[in-house]
Formats: sequence, C-alpha cells, structure tokens
Amino acid sequence: MTQLLNFPSRPKSSSVVPHISLVGAGPGDPDLLTLKGLKALQSANVVLYDALIDTQLLEYCPQAVHIFVGKRANNHAMPQAEINELMVAKARQHGHVVRLKGGDPFIFGRGHEEMSYARSQGIDCQYIPGISSIQAAPGSFDIPLTSRGLSDGFWVITGTKTDGSLSEDLRQALQTSATVVILMGMNKLAQIAQICQELGKGELPAAIIQNGTTAQAQMGHGQAKNLPEIAEKNQLRNPAVIVLGEVVSLATTTPKQAAAWAAV
Ligand SMILES: C[S@@+](CC[C@H](N)C(=O)[O-])C[C@H]1O[C@@H](n2cnc3c(N)ncnc32)[C@H](O)[C@@H]1O
Repeated sequence: MTQLLNFPSRPKSSSVVPHISLVGAGPGDPDLLTLKGLKALQSANVVLYDALIDTQLLEYCPQAVHIFVGKRANNHAMPQAEINELMVAKARQHGHVVRLKGGDPFIFGRGHEEMSYARSQGIDCQYIPGISSIQAAPGSFDIPLTSRGLSDGFWVITGTKTDGSLSEDLRQALQTSATVVILMGMNKLAQIAQICQELGKGELPAAIIQNGTTAQAQMGHGQAKNLPEIAEKNQLRNPAVIVLGEVVSLATTTPKQAAAWAAV
C-alpha cells in the first residue's frame, strides 16, 4: 500500500482551478477504494467526507483539509444544500475538492444532485465510481447476487424513500425469481416480512449483512418471514443490506471467515 502512495499527483498550478471529484470510497474496507479514487485523494486540496467513510482513507491526503459532513452521533446531518454550497465555495477558494462518499456516489448517494449543483455554478465535476455495498456486503459472506440455476438477475430497492416509505417496487420484485437487495431497510423489517408472506414468499432465504467488507462484518440469515427475529437474534443494525433470494443458501455463515476476508 505504501507504494501506491507514490503515484504522481496532478501537477500543481500557481492559480487555483476550481474542480470537484465525486469519489466512491467503496463499501467499508479502505482497500476497496479504486486507483482513480486514490489518485484524486492524493491531489485534493479539500476533502468533504461522509459518515460511512473509513477515516484511514484520509491518510492518503495529508496535504488536504478534511471536513466531515456526515451524520454526527446526535443524528444531526448537514443539510444537502449546505454541503453543495460548501463544496463549491471550497473549490473556488482552494482548487481541487474531493467529495468522498460511501460505496458508489450514484447509488442512493445523492451524487448526481451534487454534480448538477456544481455544474450549475460553473464548476467542473467528475464522477469516480466506487464499489457499492449492494454487491460487496453480500459478497463478503460469499453471497453472489446472480448464480446459474439460482438467480438470473437482481433488483436493488430502497427501504426508505424521500417520504420515509418503503419502495412499492418491492412487491413487483418479489414476483420474479431474481435476488432482491434492499438498502436502508432496517427499520422496515416487519413490513418487508409481511409483504413477503402476502406474496407467498415467506419461506424465501433471507440474509441481513451489517458492516459488510469490514472487520466488524456480521450476518444473520433465515427465512424472509422472520426478518425481525433474524435481526434481533444477531443484534443487527445499520449500516446493513437485506438480501432475499435463493442465492442466500450459498452464504458462508461463520463471521470469522468473513472477518478474515476483510483483513486480506
Ligand atoms: C445512503 S445509502 C448509500 C449506499 C452507497 N452509496 C453504496 O453504494 O453502497 C446507505 C445504505 O447503504 C448500505 N450500506 C452501506 N455500507 C454498507 C456496509 N458496509 N454493509 C452493509 N450495508 C451497507 C446500508 O443499507 C446503508 O443504510
């Protein structure tokens, strides 16, 4: 990893050229950052980072000012409009701003809103993809989203829309044989279990994966109708993804193995 730190950074210019890189930090394990993301951090003047970011990543950019804009312990999050304005103001003032976001910035991350705002203010903004928790959290327990003979595809659905409700798409998704991945659904477990039962899918294999890809990774599994009990028994909470589908039968069930994977 030390060698990676030696990538040449952008040539320094004497005049400030405001620009923003919207960087996906990956799902948790800091080694899952992309090389392009790493290079952006190395040339950053300011980094605005979210709550789910492993702060080890900030060690790649000691030259930059680091500003936390995520949810604090008191649950107070900086309003999106303030983040947008801060990002643009810092780019004008200092040059290169990295907006470091969990997973992939364009997947339930409001990344495109931030990009559109920056561009509306005349600031150049590039998207640098990240590995999403969608596939990485299940994968950290050896659950593939597709597998020949078990699942031909997958749905990714939010458990919490802007108005707080569970997406109606879940009912549609459960009528297919594809894997269903639900993000931000931990406070809707009873509702999800109920919908599964209503659609005759109560016995579908189900897993909840918390902190996937990190040394704190944990998983609970069972049947969809028992989602609240699975969470309770294994003391699972956010950040977690819920996976519904036959592919869950392929899970490696020992957290020890998954933690060893995270440490590789
Ligand atoms: C606002 S969304 C951001 C998703 C992110 N952009 C991505 O691509 O992974 C936050 C949700 O992602 C999921 N999540 C993020 N990191 C996770 C992890 N390491 N393990 C399990 N779920 C995770 C949880 O459902 C969490 O509530």
